[in-house]
Amino acid sequence: MLLTDKFGRAITDLRISVTDRCNYKCVYCRTGNEGALYGDLPFPDYFRMARILTGLGIRKIRITGGEPLLRKGLIEFIHELGQLRDVDGNALDLALTTNGHLLAEMAQPLKDAGLRRVTVSMDAVDPDRFSRITRVPGGYDKVLAGVRAARRAGLWPLKVNCVLMRGFNEDQIIPFGMFAREEGVILRFIEFMPLEEDRVWAPNTVVTLEEIISRMGEYRPLVEIPHERSETARRYRFDDGIGEIGIIAPVSHPFCGHCSRIRITSDGKIRTCLFSVWDHDLHELMARGSSDEELSNFICDVVQKKEERHHIGEADFVPASRTMVHIGG
Ligand code: GTP
Ligand code: 5AD
Repeated sequence: MLLTDKFGRAITDLRISVTDRCNYKCVYCRTGNEGALYGDLPFPDYFRMARILTGLGIRKIRITGGEPLLRKGLIEFIHELGQLRDVDGNALDLALTTNGHLLAEMAQPLKDAGLRRVTVSMDAVDPDRFSRITRVPGGYDKVLAGVRAARRAGLWPLKVNCVLMRGFNEDQIIPFGMFAREEGVILRFIEFMPLEEDRVWAPNTVVTLEEIISRMGEYRPLVEIPHERSETARRYRFDDGIGEIGIIAPVSHPFCGHCSRIRITSDGKIRTCLFSVWDHDLHELMARGSSDEELSNFICDVVQKKEERHHIGEADFVPASRTMVHIGG
């Protein structure tokens, strides 16, 4: 039995949030305050969920947060996930999304534990601007050191995610283009989505794919290269072949029709879409002593409820029941 939803989409990618704590308070994600937490589970609970889900066709697992590197025991958890095999007997594509603040010390241990690659969130290439966005002083140098350590450790391909928000960092487009070329990372710009705690999103806060391409063209033209259908990013190279740029454009060019993802929140709920208005409590079922078969059946039923698409910017848009920090990106 492999996971396929009622629109025929095969579900092959799982994102597990291992904590909803974060040491940053980025303006496009959080308020300036601490805020309430849903909490997290012991790693063996996530592992059991991951084992059952790989048996149902999951091939890629991405660890997210909050900030996953805040979680003690993460290295051992990654090592265990590294032992899992997909339905064809292949090792999983194991990835992690981090803000990079603690990555410099952890990159090599993560690689040694079996992690394949990381994506680092970074929203400015200027230290002052970086601190204004994260609302934490002194992070830029740490994150840059983290990116470089990940590269040295062979966590590859190495991606850097930059959420663009008008009024905060749209002038960073060209500097990030230069950064991608100098540091040898895949730089991905993300259109700002209405998933932030502060409810500041409005259509004009989104810096769109067309605008990014046009602005980057003032530095060097971008040439589109092929991408996988289920990939979130459209991919580009500079015209001289040096440096890769991705653009994730869920607002101006939605990719829901090819979505292959489901998510497990840090408190063990399944989310079938970033914009879901409810979760499905897998952990409660586990805590009640359900068998693997019962959990598998529950997951298959839940996948049938996966939303067809998001409704960002439409009159009938209903905000998601959780904000990004409590989902994991
Ligand atoms: P790769 O495995 O490297 O392709 O990673 P990915 O693109 O699946 O993961 P990543 O964590 O880098 O996700 C990048 C960003 O794309 C996320 O932080 C979200 O902003 C956005 N994104 C990811 N999945 C979805 C989705 O299902 N719907 C929407 N609207 N946006 C998504
Ligand atoms: N819109 C788009 N992307 C977001 N992220 C966090 N909040 C938003 C938002 N409102 C991104 C982060 C990180 C990933 C986990 O999600 O920058 O790269």
